Amino acid sequence: MNTLIRQDIASLRPYEAHIVEGNIKLDANENPFPWPDGMREELFNFQYAFNRYPDSQTRMLREAIAAYNGVKAEEVLVGNGSDELIQVILHTFGGEGRALMIHPPTFGMYAAAASITSTSLVEVPLLEGISLDLETMLKKCSENKRVKVIIICNPNNPTGTLFPREEILKIVKNTEALVVIDEAYAEFSGETLLDQIIDYPNILIMRTFSKAFGMAALRLGYVIGNKELITCLNKVRQPFNVNSFSQRAGIVALKYVSAYQTQIAAIKKEILMLYNELHKFEELKVLPTRANFILFRPQDPEYWAEGLSSRGFTIRSLGELPGLGKSLRVSAGTPEENRAFLKIIKDIAKSNIETSPLKKISRFNGMYGG
Ligand SMILES: Cc1ncc(COP(=O)(O)O)c(C=O)c1O
Repeated sequence: MNTLIRQDIASLRPYEAHIVEGNIKLDANENPFPWPDGMREELFNFQYAFNRYPDSQTRMLREAIAAYNGVKAEEVLVGNGSDELIQVILHTFGGEGRALMIHPPTFGMYAAAASITSTSLVEVPLLEGISLDLETMLKKCSENKRVKVIIICNPNNPTGTLFPREEILKIVKNTEALVVIDEAYAEFSGETLLDQIIDYPNILIMRTFSKAFGMAALRLGYVIGNKELITCLNKVRQPFNVNSFSQRAGIVALKYVSAYQTQIAAIKKEILMLYNELHKFEELKVLPTRANFILFRPQDPEYWAEGLSSRGFTIRSLGELPGLGKSLRVSAGTPEENRAFLKIIKDIAKSNIETSPLKKISRFNGMYGG
């Protein structure tokens, strides 16, 4: 097989999520709350024809998504999670002889999808790990005509940074490349560039049901852009990429938006509390965030991560991030989980003694996402 496999694929490492049974999961930026009351029953009581293929056009779901976002259904394309859509975008606009521009540190799946689609990567690191390097991005775009796609993650995973809208628009206005704005955490930041798809045909907004809507297991993401863009992507995606159950789950979830808003408000309140509390520990160097997670940089991240893991909390170790160094990321849990987490943080800060970790957690796997 080693001689048969494409050499660029042979060098890739398969994605692996490290689950620690019994630990509280604060490592994947999920919504920690159960679905709103009544939603589960409504979804399970629906009469599905599981012997039939799903609606390949995802008509009702696109209508619901369009109504939620104030756009037209023909401007929406649904995918099996935004992970799939990232690949579809690069299969459509990237590939051999073309390049994707990203701003590390950012979500790891962009680079992974670039490898799989033979798209080369142009990396313009964030300044000090938090600000877009506009000048270099624009310069590299104009010098390198192979850059066909730029992905801006806003708010950015893993830093939580929200980039100013004017800066993103400056890139959009000064390039012919497609600018994908990954707004996976938009429900938490409250900011979007959705209103700009009318004025700029090269903008594609990407969203997911995995975060604020608490449906990570069901794999549902979508993109919004002008009709021509969506038509292009539609040629590439698998015809039945979203199963019937997940399609219905998206439709049902969008009936519960006001209940979700209550959850989102609670998560935002928790994030603020977590930020303020973590900020009290000088040694943790906490970054401000507009998402549902926080990046922090203790002097010895491995010690902290293992200490937390052995005491029942799985967070994300991110390895060496450009401009920031070795970092850890924690997502907001329920109020009870967050209080218990902070108690452990206090304990670890107090103890100078090395803990012997009982369990292992995902460590420095080189992916910034999850
Ligand atoms: C910025 C960003 N985009 C996309 C995704 C993937 O979302 P999905 O679950 O829809 O594939 C994530 C997941 O962590 C993310 O952080």
